[in-house]
Amino acid sequence: MSMHLDHFGLSAEPFSKELADKDLWLPPSKQHVVDELVEAIEARESVAITGESGVGKTCVLRATRARIPTDRFRLTYCHNATLGRRDFYRQLCLALGLRPSATAAAVFYAVSAHVEELAETRVHPVFVLDEAHLLHQDTLDHLHILLNYAWDSRALLSLVLVGLSELDERLQLKRNRSLFSRLHRRLEIDPTTPEDTLDYLRVRVRLAGVERDLFAEDAVAMLHEAAHGALRELDRVASTCLRHAARKKRKVVDRDVVSRVLKASARP
Ligand SMILES: Nc1ncnc2c1ncn2[C@@H]1O[C@H](COP(=O)(O)OP(=O)(O)O)[C@@H](O)[C@H]1O
Ligand SMILES: [Mg+2]
Repeated sequence: MSMHLDHFGLSAEPFSKELADKDLWLPPSKQHVVDELVEAIEARESVAITGESGVGKTCVLRATRARIPTDRFRLTYCHNATLGRRDFYRQLCLALGLRPSATAAAVFYAVSAHVEELAETRVHPVFVLDEAHLLHQDTLDHLHILLNYAWDSRALLSLVLVGLSELDERLQLKRNRSLFSRLHRRLEIDPTTPEDTLDYLRVRVRLAGVERDLFAEDAVAMLHEAAHGALRELDRVASTCLRHAARKKRKVVDRDVVSRVLKASARP
């Protein structure tokens, strides 16, 4: 067992990214995005979600996935937006429940051939593209054509595009405007507030089996500022602080510990 776990009586690494879906932390701001996303999917709409790196976009998707009824929706998650065209179209076919094809033409052919069936099927496909700011332009063009198809007024699939704020900027370009206008909802995941940071640290420490606060109040304020509202960064700094405090045999992470850790990590 690592020394800091022992020292604080933690049963597991509190800020690990290996977290069960059921343990995801959902403060009102995140719960709101999950609710909106579930509502949109239920209504067969398409959605764009943006937010800075590490604010918790992928975790929001995980929390959403757990709420989508699998008997009525088929959710395909694709996080490798830069994947080659071949694989991209294979994934898209998978999402649509079609035989895998490796070219755009084959996908469009399959879609046209099965459009009646696809529209009648009771299982609605939801294609989730994480890191969508990295998508190739021609992929974006094709997604637009797919959404644009005259599907008898019934949506053929719901697209969920998730990415950094660059995604928003790209979607607003003239070339992508019609795709943009078909994304019915645009949700944003904001950086965490100071209250969120406090709550998050507590929740994750408790999940690791410790009931008392391991971070002093003024230490939390410093951590919040250092992480700029990004949870991934908060995870990293908070873990380092716990290890440092354990080495120094401190009962809590205080201001002094945080400032030492921040100084050390700022060193070139
Ligand atoms: N809702 C959440 N519950 C618990 N931990 C979270 C949550 N959101 C983010 N995190 C933590 O922050 C890290 C980064 O989150 P992630 O969703 O991957 O960010 P993004 O996709 O926006 O870059 C995760 O590995 C996790 O440790
Ligand atoms: Mg992510």
